[in-house]
Amino acid sequence: MGTKITAKALQAKKNVEQIVCITAYDALFANIFDKHVDLILIGDSLNMSFNNESDTLTIGMDEMIYHSRAVCRGASQAYIVADMPFGSYGSVKQAVKNATRFYKETKVDAIKLEGGSEVAPIIKAIVDRGISVVGHIGLMPQMARSEGGFHVQGKDEKSLQKIFDDALDVQKAGAMALVLEGTVANLAKDLQRELKIPVIGIGAGNECDGQILVWSDAFGFFTNFKPKFVRRFLNGAELVEDALKNYVKSVKTKEFPDSKETYL
Ligand code: KIV
Repeated sequence: MGTKITAKALQAKKNVEQIVCITAYDALFANIFDKHVDLILIGDSLNMSFNNESDTLTIGMDEMIYHSRAVCRGASQAYIVADMPFGSYGSVKQAVKNATRFYKETKVDAIKLEGGSEVAPIIKAIVDRGISVVGHIGLMPQMARSEGGFHVQGKDEKSLQKIFDDALDVQKAGAMALVLEGTVANLAKDLQRELKIPVIGIGAGNECDGQILVWSDAFGFFTNFKPKFVRRFLNGAELVEDALKNYVKSVKTKEFPDSKETYL
């Protein structure tokens, strides 16, 4: 078994080597990813990729805890982060209660929550209780319904300044890293230089301290749509379908099971 990656080890990679992050939602895939990546995120994106919902808003604490427990059982090396679901951190009191649930009921190393300056007091309160926090700014999927979709951020001066200020406030509040999603690349480059904590990009160009992708996007299992920033490193859905067709044919023709697969 390799060495467990700590927050300190992850932060030490800034300006030294790229930090590789991916999502996982169960023990099976967490176990495959664990030895190869620095960070595994139990993202609330699972509501879309695994539950076929149109946004991340309807998943709750109990489901996130269930999936986080599974991932923690499958991974022993990677730094593990779980998303606080929409509606679970509306006030300091509620946020601390739910972040504490993640630490008590799972073995995640940190929780992640979306929001900039407006959630900085919430981040600080959670960090002050001894729970590590990863911030998430730029395109925030939990705002998709109120903003009418997923829109690239930082396209005008006002939006650029707001994200910059958000990043500084999230860092000041004590976040150990920051996910920057769906922003113009120049902003990510400036933030990478300005912040002391690692900036993990998704749809933010390659000048970040690391990258994260949703695993079912990266491996071609989620095919409902493909955002511009996603690269499919595998055509997973096609491969599974081919294998499935093979299985169906083998059963129908009684070619499966053969004598080697039969107790005689
Ligand atoms: O929910 C998720 O998977 C995320 C990533 C897109 C960063 O937050």
